[in-house]
Amino acid sequence: MTALEIQTPEVFRPLLEPSRYKGAFGGRGSGKSHFFAELAIERCLTRSGSRGVCIREVQRSLKDSAKLLLEDKIRSLGVSDSFNIKHDSIETPGGGLITFAGMQDHTADSILSLENQDWAWCEEAQGMSSRSIELLRPTIRAQGSEIWFSWNPRSADDPVDQLLRGQDVPPDAIVVSANWSDNPFFPPELEAERMFDRAHKAARYGHVWEGQYEPMVADAIWTRTVIANNRRENLPVLGRIVVAIDPAGSSGGDEHGIVVVGRCSETNEGYVLEDGSMSGTPSQWSERAIALCDKWSADSIVAETNYGGDMVEQTIRTARSDVRVIQVRASRGKHVRAEPIAALYSLGRVHHAAQFDQLEDQMCQMTASGFSGKGSPDRVDALVWGLTELFPAMVQRPTREVRRVPMGAGSWMS
Ligand SMILES: Nc1ncnc2c1ncn2[C@@H]1O[C@H](COP(=O)(O)OP(=O)(O)OP(=O)(O)O)[C@@H](O)[C@H]1O
Ligand SMILES: [Mg+2]
Repeated sequence: MTALEIQTPEVFRPLLEPSRYKGAFGGRGSGKSHFFAELAIERCLTRSGSRGVCIREVQRSLKDSAKLLLEDKIRSLGVSDSFNIKHDSIETPGGGLITFAGMQDHTADSILSLENQDWAWCEEAQGMSSRSIELLRPTIRAQGSEIWFSWNPRSADDPVDQLLRGQDVPPDAIVVSANWSDNPFFPPELEAERMFDRAHKAARYGHVWEGQYEPMVADAIWTRTVIANNRRENLPVLGRIVVAIDPAGSSGGDEHGIVVVGRCSETNEGYVLEDGSMSGTPSQWSERAIALCDKWSADSIVAETNYGGDMVEQTIRTARSDVRVIQVRASRGKHVRAEPIAALYSLGRVHHAAQFDQLEDQMCQMTASGFSGKGSPDRVDALVWGLTELFPAMVQRPTREVRRVPMGAGSWMS
């Protein structure tokens, strides 16, 4: 009998024991994906007919899945003869099969097709909804079956953190924390990335590389959980799309907030489609805005014009003469404008079509008393202007006009 040699980093050793739940959480490049990929191959080689499923919350295509990594592992471990790689699955020794699934494609009924799995591996599990985890747990029920989670923690409120790091962790769970420094295979390319982030992205470094929760502000009007739970990668038909710009004032190093948002007229829900914010000259931001208009077939550009309305409109028209520009002017504080929009999020009516790290960081630092982050929240401003244009009823308040009536020499007061 030949033996398979696998070099497992020390940090993952506890996960080699049988256990109903296994979890590895930590920052980028800690070897989590490679470890579970090897564990999957090992399990298929040692349990004849083993069926496994690699799960993500959203899997738009097989490219999003762990399939390529498993194929590489099969080759690098020299066990290609034992597996048969198919287009969308991998046949394993003894008639087993590895498949790849997105939880958002499953219903309570369709999930039953996973009932006889021997193992399930949830990759990037920080993105899993509680619905998905609760559907999955009773489904994976074959004798001795295991559920594995690998993730980069975002928030203690995320369902996977509550399950495996919360108050009532199941007794048969083994969970390890792994970071780059635990990975003996940590490649020089990632080391260069890490050093760069440490020098230039200090605010996010602890989260990205050391497995810490995302920086949070206590009384923020948006939370990571609300944003994450409302993420939808599949877009409906959108009735209106606008590009919203909050140009930075001429001085200072602030960015120009440029955010594309749309509204689905059928469901009355908003979608944040792209964050194209940037620093640069007026002609650069106007060109970016026009390019985004074309890309998304937006019907107009919504521009904050506090720094000179005609100048902003002129700048846009120089880039494209026939674009519709809606000028908006701030008369209330940023957080006051933001609150009705944050309320729409709480109602589950605004979705992010992708993960917008910098925009979402700014959102989660907006509090009822102002922005608690560094600099100016330009991305949030643009977002709020765009969604305010698409959801006017949310923010309309009865207005009153203050009129100044000249009282000349003939009035009774004089
Ligand atoms: N067992 C291994 N054999 C060979 N190389 C490995 C192994 N484990 C990790 N590596 C190397 O370390 C890098 C990071 O590992 P991996 O992608 O598994 O980390 P991760 O924790 O899943 O990170 P992320 O959070 O970015 O997905 C890999 O790209 C690979 O170069
Ligand atoms: Mg990974």
